[in-house]
Order: sequence, then structure tokens, then C-alpha cells
Amino acid sequence: MAARDPHRYVNELDATAIERIIARLETRAKDAVFTRLFDKYAEQLALPPSAQVLEVGCGTGAMTRSLAHRSDFSGKAIGVDQSRPFVEAAIRFAQDEGVSNRVDFRVGDAHNLDFPPATFDTVIAHTLISHVAEPTTVLREMARVVRPGGTVAIFDGDYASLTYAFPDHDFGHQMDVALASATFNNPRIMRDLPRLLPKAGLEVTAAWGEAVIEIGRGSYFKTFAETYAPYVTQAGMLPEAAVEDWLTTQKQSMENGTFFASCNYYTYLARRTE
Ligand SMILES: C[S@@+](CC[C@H](N)C(=O)[O-])C[C@H]1O[C@@H](n2cnc3c(N)ncnc32)[C@H](O)[C@@H]1O
Repeated sequence: MAARDPHRYVNELDATAIERIIARLETRAKDAVFTRLFDKYAEQLALPPSAQVLEVGCGTGAMTRSLAHRSDFSGKAIGVDQSRPFVEAAIRFAQDEGVSNRVDFRVGDAHNLDFPPATFDTVIAHTLISHVAEPTTVLREMARVVRPGGTVAIFDGDYASLTYAFPDHDFGHQMDVALASATFNNPRIMRDLPRLLPKAGLEVTAAWGEAVIEIGRGSYFKTFAETYAPYVTQAGMLPEAAVEDWLTTQKQSMENGTFFASCNYYTYLARRTE
């Protein structure tokens, strides 16, 4: 069986897999490593007081809610995701956090957004573009629904750089490559954006990269490995016993303080030119 990105094909997953991903998205969003990455670009969005913001591929709405909690945000944020269970979870979490009046969540497809042109001041894709079927169509849709002069923000990993330490370097490399292919439809898309954004009518105004590195202890990469290593096996990319051994070694290294994992993440802020 070929690799099937669980986020691209989320509507084919069973209830257990959905619950696992909901837990992973929520844990990740609370991880200091991850909140720092979002806060860094959220600060630069320069949102007007009544800003209308769209997050495409909002999942459980963690980033949309994070925006609603910011003291410099007093507008409205809408999150769209293709998964109904994720959208329902997002609505529940927003009620629990008391931000329902500032956010709205809807089911929808990033390739065909159900909004008129120029509806939003800012449109965000936070770890979406690596998963979608057609990145160029999604970029064009994001450019269509942002107002002229408004900002499109794209954040994601360059998963060709994803790596975990493993004593057998050859197998470790095979596992890094398999994890990236099994989990992401477009593992290298972030290095294509300087070429793709202008074609979508978007001018890059700022771009930067950061490495997420965990040495000794693992938290961000812990739930990543636990959530997505089973997809390597399911896709038949590597033998099940070898993947299990890799996962056990990762867990042991987290317990005894010898863990190492790293991945590069990139942010692009782009302005709609016309
Ligand atoms: C890694 S999650 C990111 C969720 C959220 N942005 C966050 O950072 O917590 C990727 C999300 O993209 C959604 N997704 C993938 N393809 C999509 C599409 N074509 N339209 C809408 N959502 C999509 C998935 O359902 C999933 O919720």
C-alpha cells in the first residue's frame, strides 16, 4: 500500500485514529517549542482592531483559539477544516476556553473556499500546505479570499530535514525518509514557496526559518513519533518489527536522556499584490 498522508485522507480514518490526531494536535499546540513558532509570526501580522482572519486547515482550532486569546487581537477569526470531527472538537474547545464569541469553525475544502473574494485581512495556513492534494490551488484560493494588500501567512516544516538519532545510521535515515513520506503529501513544499507564491499573486514580504531541536528529552517529537510511526508500517514502507524497535529505542532514549531529534520550519508572510 502506498503512503497515505493521514491529514490529507483524514476523512478515511477510523474513530481511534481521529482521537489520536486530535490529542496530538492539542498536545503540540500547548508545547512551548510550538507556541513560540506561532507567536513569532502572529506578532508580525499587524492586524487592525477589527481584523477578519481565516485559518485554512484549522484542525482542532488550536491556532485560531491562540489568536483569539492574544491581547493585540480584537477581531474575528474563522477556522475551516475538511474534517467534521476536528471542527466539532474546535467548537467544543473554544466554548471551554470562553472564546466562542471571537471564533467560528466550519467544514470546508482548502482547494475551494466558500467565501467571496477579498473577505479577510489575513489568511493563515499553519502546517496545512504540506498535506494538501494541490498546493498551488490552495495558494490561489488563499490569495483570492484575502483583500488586496492583506497578508497570507504560511507556516510548515521542511520534512526532508526531519531526523531522529538512531544507532544504526542507515536504518535511521530510512526511517526519517519513510516518516516524512508517510505523514506528508508534500514534505519539501516549503522550499518551493519563493517560486509558487508569486504565481498565486502573492509577494513575499518576510520569510525566515527555525530549527526545532530536542536533545536529551523529547516532547514535540515524542508525540510525533508515537502518532505517525504506525503509518510507516501501514504503508508497508518498512518492516513492522524494525519500526517497533525504532520506536522503542526513541522512547528509551527519552527516558534515559540520550534523545536527539530535529526538523527545520519556515514561515512566509506574503502580500496580495492586486
Ligand atoms: C497538521 S493539521 C494542522 C491543524 C492546525 N492548523 C494546527 O496547526 O493545529 C493539518 C490539517 O489540515 C487539514 N486539511 C488537509 N487537507 C485539507 C483540505 N484540502 N481542506 C481543508 N483542510 C485540510 C486536515 O484535516 C488537518 O486538520
